Parts: sequence; C-alpha cells; structure tokens
Amino acid sequence: MRESSHLGATVTPLAGAGQRLAVGGPPLAGDVPDAGRARDAKPEAGIDRTLLYVARTPDPLLSAYLKSRGWEIATARTVHEASRLVKPEAAYAGIVDLTGFAPREFTGLETILRLQQVGWIALTDDSRLTDADVRRLIRHYCFDYVHVPVAHATLDYLVGHAYGMVSLCDLDTPGAAASQDEDEMVGTCEAMQQLFRTIRKVANTDATVFISGESGTGKELTALAIHERSARRKATFVPINCGAIPHHLLQSELFGYERGAFTGANQRKIGRVESANGGTLFLDEIGDLPLESQASLLRFLQEGKIERLGGREQIPVDLRIISATHVDLEAAMREGRFRADLFHRLCVLRVDEPPLRARGKDIEILAHHVLHKFKQDSARRIRGFTPDAIEALYNYNWPGNVRELINRVRRAIVMAESKLISAEDLDLAHFTAQQTVTLAQAREAAERRAIEAALLRHRHRLTEAAVDLGISRVTLYRLMGTHGLRDEKTLFVGEAENQAELPPDVQD
Ligand SMILES: Nc1ncnc2c1ncn2[C@@H]1O[C@H](COP(=O)(O)OP(=O)(O)OP(=O)(O)O)[C@@H](O)[C@H]1O
Ligand SMILES: [Mg+2]
Repeated sequence: MRESSHLGATVTPLAGAGQRLAVGGPPLAGDVPDAGRARDAKPEAGIDRTLLYVARTPDPLLSAYLKSRGWEIATARTVHEASRLVKPEAAYAGIVDLTGFAPREFTGLETILRLQQVGWIALTDDSRLTDADVRRLIRHYCFDYVHVPVAHATLDYLVGHAYGMVSLCDLDTPGAAASQDEDEMVGTCEAMQQLFRTIRKVANTDATVFISGESGTGKELTALAIHERSARRKATFVPINCGAIPHHLLQSELFGYERGAFTGANQRKIGRVESANGGTLFLDEIGDLPLESQASLLRFLQEGKIERLGGREQIPVDLRIISATHVDLEAAMREGRFRADLFHRLCVLRVDEPPLRARGKDIEILAHHVLHKFKQDSARRIRGFTPDAIEALYNYNWPGNVRELINRVRRAIVMAESKLISAEDLDLAHFTAQQTVTLAQAREAAERRAIEAALLRHRHRLTEAAVDLGISRVTLYRLMGTHGLRDEKTLFVGEAENQAELPPDVQD
C-alpha cells in the first residue's frame, strides 16, 4: 500500500489549533481552550461534525468507518448534489475523491472546492497528479492530499485536522466580519499555528526575544501579541524603529537627557527605555542600531540601570526587550557593525516569522480578512474574488508579505469595477495564465516547500529538520543552497542547537 501526503507524517496533531490570535487583549480567540481540541480526531459527545464526501463511487467501508468515528457523513456523487448539501454558515470537513472525475468536470468541482467553510482532503493517484489542473486544485483548495488506497484511520485524522481549522475560520459572512478584532493575527497553516504556540510560551517568560522575518511578515504584530499576553500587559508597549531615527539622535531618544546636557536641552527628556519601565520595549530594525547605542544597550542589559545624557544618576528600569530585524545580522556581526555579545543577550528566545508564500491557504484567508476589513472603502458592495484572482494570489511570490497583500487588496477594493476583485485589480494579471508545469518543476517546488516548512518547524535547527525530512544534515544544507534558503538564520544554527539559554518549555 502506498500512502503519502504533502505534509505526510510531519503533520503535527491538532492541539488547540486556532485560526486567529487576537492581539488587543482578551478574549484571545486563538486561545479559546477547547475550540480546536473539540474538533480533534477524537469525536466528542454532543458535537456533530459533518463530513462532505464527494466521490463518483463512494466507498461504503470508508463511510461506515468514519461514521463509527463520530462523523455525520453527507455523500454526494455530483457537484450539484454537493453544493445542495452545504449550508452557508456551517463548517465541514470534506473528502473529494479526484480519481473518479473526468478532467472536464474539474471546473465544476472547483466551485465546491472554493467553499471556504469546507476543509478539503483530496484523494488521488499517481496518474492524476501528472495533471496540472489536479495539482492546482489540490494546491489552492485542499489542506492535504493522500494517495489511494489510504488507511481509514489516516483519513479520519486528516479530516479531523481540516475540520478543526475551518471551524475556527471566518466564514466570510458579514456577521463574522463585524466581530473581527482590529489587531488580530490570522493564520491556520502549520507554520502559523506553531508561531501562535511560540508566542503563548514566550509570553510567559521575561527573557529577551528576537524576532526574525522578512519585511511585512508581522514582526511588530508578534511583538505586540507577546506583550499583550505577558504579565507586563498592563504597562506600556514602547516601540522604537532604530532605522528611522538619525544616528546622532538615537542615544538621547533611547536614554533621555537632563536639562542642559547639550545646547538646546532646555528641559529633561525621558527616553524610550525609561518610559517602557514595567512594560516592553520593542526595538525594531535592531540591525540599524549604531555601535554607540549598542554599547549603552548592552550595559543596560547587564546592569538593569540607565543614565540619562548629562546625568549622573543610575536609574533602575525594569522591562522586557523584544527586538526584530529583517536584515542579515550575521553579516553585520562579521563586518563588525553589530556586537555579537549584544546579539546573544537580545536573542535568548527566538521567533521566526514564516514568509507569506509558505502559508498555503492562509493567503486566501488573509485576502478575505482584508477585504472584510476595508470593503467599505468602495461604493460598490464587493463580495469576493474571481477565480483568476485567487489563482494569482497563490501563484505570486509575495516579496512584501502580509503588508503587500493588504496594500494590493485595499487598492483592488478601490479599483474594482465589478462586485468581484479580479487578478487585474490586484495588479497580478501576469500570475493567472494557466502555466504548464513539468513534473520536475512540481517536484522542485514541493521539495522547497517541504524544506521551508521543516526549517520553520524546527527554528532552523538543521539536525532536527534533516531528521524530519529523512535526509542527512549535509544534504539538507546543500539543498538549502540549491533553493536559496541559506541565510543568517542558518548560520546561527550552532547557537540554536546549544540553546543553553533557551528554556526547554519554549521548544516545541
Ligand atoms: N498574521 C497576520 N494577520 C493579520 N494581519 C497581519 C498578520 N501579519 C501581519 N499583519 C499585518 O501586516 C502589516 C505588517 O505587519 P508588521 O508591521 O507587524 O510587519 P513587520 O514584519 O514588522 O514589517 P516590516 O519588516 O516592514 O517592519 C500590519 O498591518 C499587520 O497588522
Ligand atoms: Mg516592523
């Protein structure tokens, strides 16, 4: 029997999976204690979990097994039947058996696969996977896929996972939109679930946190989420962008000054460090901190006291530091622009933000989230995205990550001339053409995705990621080079692996 899935054995069990992590104080939806667990693979009394089973020839043994596992099965042999079974505001798990459908039926299938309240698992075989349409449907709309024949228990586990995810989703209804939190973090994919778990754990400690991630991935939102969930939440969160303040002003901005400290210092100024007393100081773009301020910051981290410019008094300040960067700090250290001893102090705990392109279905969920948030910017009642827009969302590489997605959707809301946003409105028309993909290209893309996911899961600890992937550490390092995935994080691996300072409870 051959059985595989794109996440395969590495799918982590659904433990308290939440789609969102609201930042702005309680209630934290991603934290609802049993919302995810209740929908785990184990059925619970009194909870009806409906599973939509779409197949030309449904397997009665599979249906019977899933029923015995607590699923209420709704079987459909055609697209028409399936769309009649789905009620707009309910959540469903879905199995779509692609082996029985002819290629000309895929367009019809796409209309039901697009339903956001269904978490789909596809059944397929090798010959189907050579079809570009099948690969696209799986990539765009399914949480996972398995080769047939498949062990019933595996399928039960996967649909449990998919159901857990969608049941926490915003079901694209106006009511749901109204209850959205301004600053919530949206994420259902494994990498984001891991990020949410890390945020919760990290928030419980007082150690310094270093957030690494590409531009626009949500580093500041994560820092705020950590603060809001920490014991310091009642005190202030003070952000400072080290890259945006001229170097000669940074020292006084951070540590303040006394009256008369220099010409023009007419009155005492309290610096950002002092004003964050009791709370959290967020040092954004830490890589831009000049050496002078690096030395002062290091001294503060060692002594817990600051001295205002022109002052003699040592002032004790109690705060937690979170820092972030999108630049290669390793290169900065090599070139002597950033002090390694400071970096080690700042990076007791490390959080990696996944790039948007590695977040799978979240791209679409985020696009809908942004649409709901800003749709009043248009005089038209914009209701969603055209299929070509959805396709483009997945095909595009998102160098600017979530920030870019927000900007594109907001602009599209204004530009759209119909009730649906098109790829052209998103300025992504080039990313819609049905590109033919060779099997070699598909394999390469899948390999890159798997490596990126394993690295994220193990915070760039090569040894563990390599074990997950079933390859040697050396091979993994070589493949990372091939796929352009080596960066400063990899070079910190030695530290990450000797994580003397990293409390064990912070490691998943
Ligand atoms: N998971 C998410 N869900 C919803 N919104 C998000 C998410 N991640 C980021 N955002 C939004 O994307 C925008 C960029 O986020 P943020 O400023 O935190 O990113 P950043 O990594 O600090 O970016 P930069 O490197 O450019 O400073 C913000 O408007 C933020 O609210
Ligand atoms: Mg930022």
